[in-house]
Amino acid sequence: MLIAIASGKGGVGKTCLAIGLAQALAEAGRGPLLADGDLGLANVDVQLGLQPARDLGDVLAARCAIEEAVIHHPAGFDVLPGRSGSATLAAMDGTALVALLREQRRDVVLDLGAGLGVAQRHLAARADLLVVVASEEPTSLTDAYAVLKLHRRDAPDARAGVLVNMVAQRAQALRVHAALDSACRNFLGAGVPLLGAVRRDPKVPAAIRAQVPLLTRHPSSPAAQDLRDVAARLLDGAFSTPRHAEAP
Ligand SMILES: Nc1ncnc2c1ncn2[C@@H]1O[C@H](COP(=O)(O)OP(=O)(O)O)[C@@H](O)[C@H]1O
Ligand SMILES: [Mg+2]
Repeated sequence: MLIAIASGKGGVGKTCLAIGLAQALAEAGRGPLLADGDLGLANVDVQLGLQPARDLGDVLAARCAIEEAVIHHPAGFDVLPGRSGSATLAAMDGTALVALLREQRRDVVLDLGAGLGVAQRHLAARADLLVVVASEEPTSLTDAYAVLKLHRRDAPDARAGVLVNMVAQRAQALRVHAALDSACRNFLGAGVPLLGAVRRDPKVPAAIRAQVPLLTRHPSSPAAQDLRDVAARLLDGAFSTPRHAEAP
């Protein structure tokens, strides 16, 4: 399954949730690949404290095989790092990356960049599931809706769901989801399921500062528990029932 993580807006938590989901899938025995699809502004390697010798740019330019660029993380998942400041990667439309990831015979978690450029849209449209990360901030909501709207246009039959991040309590996640769901119903013809919620948790920035994945650094923190719940729900396929979205 190719799972892409998008939000439109930056700073909503795409990269740290992508890392957390990859690790939660690893804990569930899936051995996933975490790929940095923020073309030109890579962050996954930074959050994990990796210093890649080879990266996605080398693979796509045929300077090395994907196996030479992939780094195995001791937390149980593999990382295909990107490269920050690469003009070549920044100019890509995502087609070559989709082809590369499709050859992987395993779960892939793809961390997308902010914005709604050609590459983000292409990568989102080709995913088996688009996870749209939103917070309760109005700008996050409008950007998440914009992502969902273009995704419906680009890939009318593809699956997408909302993951609410940085919530104080469950009711807040339900409000954020209800706002997006009703906008999608009213203007796009069908609602959007809630994939889950991740609590606001000071252990998240603490893990990023330590450059250690959250589920390793703070395995029983609230956000780590929430990420395991989301991963379990993704593996259950519960996200495929849009009209009966469950509470987080
Ligand atoms: N659940 C959370 N609780 C607290 N802080 C969070 C949470 N999720 C993300 N953050 C913080 O938000 C910031 C942006 O996260 P990042 O993963 O870089 O977002 P994006 O990839 O969407 O730009 C980071 O400093 C991170 O610590
Ligand atoms: Mg990011």
